Amino acid sequence: MGSCVSCEKGAVGERKKDPAERQSQIAPTASPSEMSRSEVSKGGEHTTFISNHGLRSPSLTYEELDVATERFAQEHFLGKGGFGEVYKGVLDGNHVAIKILNPKGMQGTREFFTEVMVLNRLDHPNLVKLVGYCAEWAQKLLVYEYMPLGSLETHLFDLPPDKKPLDWNTRMKILAGAAQGLQHLHVNTDPPIINRDVKCSNILLGEGYHPKLSDFGLAKLGPTGDDTHVSTRVMGTPGYCAPEYLESGQLTLRSDIYSFGVVILEVITGRRALDQTRSRDERNLAEWATPLINQKEYSILADPALSGQYSKTSLVQALSVAQLCIQKTARQRPLITEVASALSHISSRRSGSSR
Ligand SMILES: Nc1ncnc2c1ncn2[C@@H]1O[C@H](COP(=O)(O)OP(=O)(O)OP(=O)(O)O)[C@@H](O)[C@H]1O
Ligand SMILES: [Mg+2]
Repeated sequence: MGSCVSCEKGAVGERKKDPAERQSQIAPTASPSEMSRSEVSKGGEHTTFISNHGLRSPSLTYEELDVATERFAQEHFLGKGGFGEVYKGVLDGNHVAIKILNPKGMQGTREFFTEVMVLNRLDHPNLVKLVGYCAEWAQKLLVYEYMPLGSLETHLFDLPPDKKPLDWNTRMKILAGAAQGLQHLHVNTDPPIINRDVKCSNILLGEGYHPKLSDFGLAKLGPTGDDTHVSTRVMGTPGYCAPEYLESGQLTLRSDIYSFGVVILEVITGRRALDQTRSRDERNLAEWATPLINQKEYSILADPALSGQYSKTSLVQALSVAQLCIQKTARQRPLITEVASALSHISSRRSGSSR
């Protein structure tokens, strides 16, 4: 499991928020202290927060979630990310995943409300559903539909010996579905939503490896009118961030395309976006893969765990899509509609040699 590390440290640093950022932030603009006033749950002011923002997802009590997870018992523990711990629970007879905001974590109240506001607006088969949320005093929890096969990350890297690697067709199906989810954010939502944290650990898998994008806590509304980008603090996960976003904090829909290109590479190669255990020139996946694609060294790039069981044509096509997505010049990257349609095409041509 990769933890979301903010890239806002070091050279990039944290800049003062500019008006564009304030306007584009999806989360309510209230300061944390104002938020905690409006969060005082159960009726009263919390109801005001909900009615002010027209939330569909129900507010749940901490007690309900405590019961749902048998007091957050260790056997219900699913994992831990930048937001906090995640537990499996049962609510109204349905399995759910419950994330508890770690008050000391790097992601905080802002991400919590962004997640609630964004997911509340969205309904798509390739986006994880928010079942409800809890904001009682300092306690903040998010409740999602449970995704039984976990994250894509756990199916690609460091597989235990008894776990079968994903076959080629399943990999392409997952990519095609994830692209549909991103397309919904970029194209069908007005204004468009930039996810800002597209990565394998945020692609969750349901029955039959049906993929859904998750984690919208870092999402931003895309530029509107004549604006070409949104200026923002650099947030996201190293290895997935577009170069122009890292350098200048300029965020566009094409920043997500870069990250998605890295995800395509991870799925094809079985290598992590950033792997400090590898030699210097192989550490950054996009930097390692680009010259190999240019030199048409395609088979070197295929995950050895596939044992050669893939269609060469599909491999070349999928690598070509990745290559376009990870171009250094943002304007040259394709739109998500083009990426989604190319991946659907690749996925529909099922490879016979696949396991
Ligand atoms: N809806 C869900 N259904 C099933 N498992 C989930 C669900 N949401 C999260 N998980 C699991 O919980 C663990 C932690 O997820 P979380 O999203 O908090 O962290 P992450 O994605 O690894 O890192 P980040 O904080 O950067 O997103 C992961 O193993 C993930 O697969
Ligand atoms: Mg996640």
